Amino acid sequence: MNQTLTRAVRDLIEGNRVVTGDGHRYTRPAQRTYPHQWLWDSCFHARIQFLFGDRAAAHDELRALFRAQVDSGPDRGRLPHMTLFGGHPAEALQDDAGGSQYARDVALWGDARASSITQPPIIAETVREIGDLELWRELWLPMAAYYDWWLRRRDPRGDGLLVCHHVWETGADASPRADAAILRLANSGRTPRALDKGTINVTAKKRAELLAGRFLMLEDLQAIDQAELAGTIDEPTAARQRLSLYGHVAVDMQAYLVANLGALARIGEALGQPEAAGYAAQAERIAEAVNRELWDDELGYYVDRWGDPARPATALTHAPLLALAGADLVPRDRAERLLALLVDPERFWTRWPLPTASRQEPYFDPDEYWRGSTWINVNWFLVRGLCAAARRFDDERYLPPARAIAERSVALVEDVGFREYYRSGARQLSGDANCSEAGFGPERFGWSGLALDLARALDHELAGVKPLR
Ligand code: GLC
Repeated sequence: MNQTLTRAVRDLIEGNRVVTGDGHRYTRPAQRTYPHQWLWDSCFHARIQFLFGDRAAAHDELRALFRAQVDSGPDRGRLPHMTLFGGHPAEALQDDAGGSQYARDVALWGDARASSITQPPIIAETVREIGDLELWRELWLPMAAYYDWWLRRRDPRGDGLLVCHHVWETGADASPRADAAILRLANSGRTPRALDKGTINVTAKKRAELLAGRFLMLEDLQAIDQAELAGTIDEPTAARQRLSLYGHVAVDMQAYLVANLGALARIGEALGQPEAAGYAAQAERIAEAVNRELWDDELGYYVDRWGDPARPATALTHAPLLALAGADLVPRDRAERLLALLVDPERFWTRWPLPTASRQEPYFDPDEYWRGSTWINVNWFLVRGLCAAARRFDDERYLPPARAIAERSVALVEDVGFREYYRSGARQLSGDANCSEAGFGPERFGWSGLALDLARALDHELAGVKPLR
């Protein structure tokens, strides 16, 4: 393995490590901007620590995610997308983040401990791949409770298409997929009570009205949650209100659920748990619904839905390509259409793929937060999905783009540093050749350490493959 990169990644992750007041340890995504524990970030951090050989830290990172799991009420089982740092007296003293950011986030979420939404449910695959029997046994019940929560609370139509209640749940915080829902709120003329004053992501502020709309969406969601908890509205009414507020059926989220319910089933089998087969069946049910309902044969990709009644979210983002990371979700003929979409220079094959929006779309901005920029965790999922497709269909055509994405991701990290996100290329294809590399968001950002796993893949499953130009 590349020694210099390994050392740099170890240094990055260890530098962001946190010990909580109650003795847990985890890795914060970045100093100052992101002091808390984030659900999917920690799954990536755990993989990275496992890869550079710190198994104990990797397992602790995953354990710490269950500190603030909801243990009662209608949302019992939910894992929060953020577990806040700074509430314990020992934490408040540690650094700036312990004070001002903590107070601001408690006010935003109305809770001293954690946020009220979740994030991509990728923990079961992580636990399966880097855990051992002992960790599986320890985390079986809380993990099962988390996926039970998804199945119980997020399938309001009972059709196997699970919904997000806020765009932040998808992890792609500013994705144009949410624009229609967000603009409806932003254009209402209301001013949100809170705004993310802490962000140093200047590109996230380019569209101030969208930023405000995301905070309005949170306010409205919190009002529905509170009414349900207080008993002023019943569960079906609350579910309907949440659907019409956002009700986002995101194809990448379905893909994560398919892969992770499958991983949970396999852990359960190894532990002799009778519920295991039920999780495998749920994974299949979701996969069937996605292929039956979301595939658009004319367009050649999966299309998200939102709202109630559900309508297509037509923005073309990276999300349909991530369906390839959903175990055996995508059938062969559809995988080929997705591959054609990926390598189309007018749409996704930019100088540093994968852009988080298609180059042809009006909102495409190669430098902007989740609206066309490139993210290392997205690339990691895609490379994994392409390698899996090559194996599953015994078809080598998936490997040259995978090799190119892995190489360029490693190069970006080596040249520009561990940034939160990167420039994907030029606005127009004709500008790609003169375009320079650039990174954005906080420096020393944790999940960009996944470059280490991409470098590993270059020496193993992608060794000897000629990269696509
Ligand atoms: C941003 C990202 C989100 C991530 C968080 C912490 O909000 O959009 O996906 O989990 O930062 O890194």
